[in-house]
Amino acid sequence: MNLAEKLATITPGRLQMSYFTNSGSEANETAIVAAQTYTDAREIVALRHAYSGRTSLTMSITAHSTWKVGKSFSPDVKHALNPYCYRCPLKLTYPACDVACAQDIEDVIRTTTSGRIAAFMAEPIQGVGGFITPPDEYFQIAVEIARHYGGVFICDEVQTGFGRTGAHWFGISHWGVEPEIMTMAKGIANGLPMGNTVTTPAVAQAMVGQGLTISTFGGNPVSTAAALGTLEAMEEAGGPDRFAVLGARLRGGLDRLGEKYPLIGDVRGKGLMQGIEMVTDRQRKEPAPKAVAQLFEETRERGLLIGKGGLYGNVIRISPALTVSETQIDDALEILDYALGVVHEAQGVG
Ligand SMILES: Cc1ncc(COP(=O)(O)O)c(C=O)c1O
Repeated sequence: MNLAEKLATITPGRLQMSYFTNSGSEANETAIVAAQTYTDAREIVALRHAYSGRTSLTMSITAHSTWKVGKSFSPDVKHALNPYCYRCPLKLTYPACDVACAQDIEDVIRTTTSGRIAAFMAEPIQGVGGFITPPDEYFQIAVEIARHYGGVFICDEVQTGFGRTGAHWFGISHWGVEPEIMTMAKGIANGLPMGNTVTTPAVAQAMVGQGLTISTFGGNPVSTAAALGTLEAMEEAGGPDRFAVLGARLRGGLDRLGEKYPLIGDVRGKGLMQGIEMVTDRQRKEPAPKAVAQLFEETRERGLLIGKGGLYGNVIRISPALTVSETQIDDALEILDYALGVVHEAQGVG
């Protein structure tokens, strides 16, 4: 079976047509062009705190001032409030809020666009944004609104794809929503450069029917063989079900650390994509980037490399290789426990 056929079997429902490129940014660019040609509309609604890539258009989608380099951003992109429950932009509390943040998409469409959009574009869990994980109802509401105003749903699975969030091959399946267009990259070929935009035959036809497009290295035999091999290896390792078990073990340990250390304000994520938001004070939720910097040093010295993200640089992002073992997860939790103890003492918390 070739790669495009294989991807058609693991992506949700009607997503069957792949267009291979070389990066997540390119995959997202392709998705936007496809949405615009299919809908014959221009405007895109994205979410605040999103990260979409480093091209001019994907930096326009990106909603982090620190990741927007350059001078020319598209006026066709509008940003709605994001479902950041820990720091609710509407100062409400879930579930009493009725997921009011999702309704903001309608406000944005009605007040800042022509009233007809090409797409609503979002990551199932915002990666660079700090592993912000929307509540269960969010995507059903958001996507219904977008479709009502003519838009398709572009789901950016560059970070969440390929079993990362456990239980499903793609993160959006946790929310029971089927996108018209999905993008993927990063883990797709286990380190070799590749991006992919997968869509329905109808959307693909609209784009192909409009004119010529080529990616010189997109879909090259080396990267596609690597991607196919990676998928086979993941299936042999147990696939998303196995990653869910490992993720639950990691999450259980992080939740225990969350109870132990007041510097941890929030633990969130799904599967092997877990974040901890560090704060100086749980009541005021003041971001603690300095504590994160110190934690990095403490964990690195003991052989554990972790990432950070979030607008305030205070979210520790833990997304280990999907081949991680139970023992490695336990070791990582032990190192984190020790390092958090040192940081707490140094910061005078608790
Ligand atoms: C969610 C998301 N989309 C798109 C991209 C862009 O991918 P690339 O760096 O391969 O262009 C990234 C990169 O971090 C990402 O996290």
